[in-house]
Amino acid sequence: MDAGTEAAQTVGWDEDGVRRTAAWRSGSGARPPKRVAPADDRMAADIAYKLVCEGTALLWRGDYHGARQLLAALGRRVDRKPPKRGATARETFHLHRQARSRRARVLGMLLVPLETTPDGSYTVPLRRAPDVGEACTEAYGPAAGPAGACTLVALRELQGVIGAHEWRRKGVPVEALGGDRVHPYYGVFSPVRGEYVDLVARAPLPVPEDGAEAGPERLTAFDIGTGTGVLAAVLARRGVGRVTATDLGERALACARENVAGLGVAGTVEVVRADLFPPEEAGRADVIVCNPPWVPAKPTSVLETAVYDPDSRMLRGFLAGLAQRLAPGGEGWLILSDLAEHLGLRPREQLLEWVAEAGLTVAGRLDARPVHSRATDPAAPLHAARAAETTSLWRLRPAHTPQ
Ligand SMILES: C[S@@+](CC[C@H](N)C(=O)[O-])C[C@H]1O[C@@H](n2cnc3c(N)ncnc32)[C@H](O)[C@@H]1O
Repeated sequence: MDAGTEAAQTVGWDEDGVRRTAAWRSGSGARPPKRVAPADDRMAADIAYKLVCEGTALLWRGDYHGARQLLAALGRRVDRKPPKRGATARETFHLHRQARSRRARVLGMLLVPLETTPDGSYTVPLRRAPDVGEACTEAYGPAAGPAGACTLVALRELQGVIGAHEWRRKGVPVEALGGDRVHPYYGVFSPVRGEYVDLVARAPLPVPEDGAEAGPERLTAFDIGTGTGVLAAVLARRGVGRVTATDLGERALACARENVAGLGVAGTVEVVRADLFPPEEAGRADVIVCNPPWVPAKPTSVLETAVYDPDSRMLRGFLAGLAQRLAPGGEGWLILSDLAEHLGLRPREQLLEWVAEAGLTVAGRLDARPVHSRATDPAAPLHAARAAETTSLWRLRPAHTPQ
């Protein structure tokens, strides 16, 4: 699924005795609501909660801060029901996902209007609304339609768009890049948890079969599913002479290009659109790194596709194609969290079986323990699995010399 995919549909509702329509926008790929009713500061949170639970979306016409308050009140009501625990970690995980998906659906029912301005930007025509022009243009591209054209968007999504704009502006410091920042775009996987990046910074670079004395500048690398371009940049900074970075998402491609330019490695890193490996003309590489989504489950929105991958499609595709794209003496570096193992979703044996089936062997492994708040919160439903999580860089080599 392309993280840039968006639903382009319309919504209709009755207001002041008039039938109105507007375009529907969802950067997360949510479908338009079937029923919409206008609402403002006079509506009690309990009534609003009842309506949204029944499937009626509320189109906010009051004060913007009132909408934010109502969203928080709806959130408290959804959270009143404690998350259920299953008999196994796997069951608890599925119940947790169901609860998260319901939460997202309910909170996604509070809508705000987004209007096209005369200069092709965006505005929220509500009292005390923030300036959303730049944030929305970054996330959605230029506004469609003539000035005044109206689109409905979930307030929760708009808040995400505004938050993403702040992250993009400030950037995320990356230790492995000497504290330099990468600037993630809306919907592009952000290296906020940097431990996996450090693994790529410290794994020993392979020595090509024909170049025992050569330095890293003779090495070539592929970064499969580059996202912000962070791993490609780390390899370039380590001195690797040529890096080809791929992704399928348009936002990721644009983001990676901007970051490699900003980090001064655009001369070394080429960013190309490709499904997994770069086109055959790119040849083979000495290092092929891939950090695929690590949880084999269905994403509930396009924004989740960097984490959830049904049937481990990307992981299996990477392993299956790796041996034939490695140069002699080269190594594949698979970055993978073992969270799926702790959740009972994909046993270690399965991973090792796929490695063997792909004609690969494990040459070594570097491990890192993720540091994140949920791993230390014993009340979180998946605490045990998260607390035990390890992220590894698997060094993979062809079991037999490639022909
Ligand atoms: C977990 S993110 C990793 C991003 C980045 N490499 C990093 O480590 O921060 C996975 C990335 O793979 C990309 N992706 C998913 N399927 C892909 C495919 N078939 N071919 C290329 N890229 C893909 C996604 O768009 C996403 O950017």
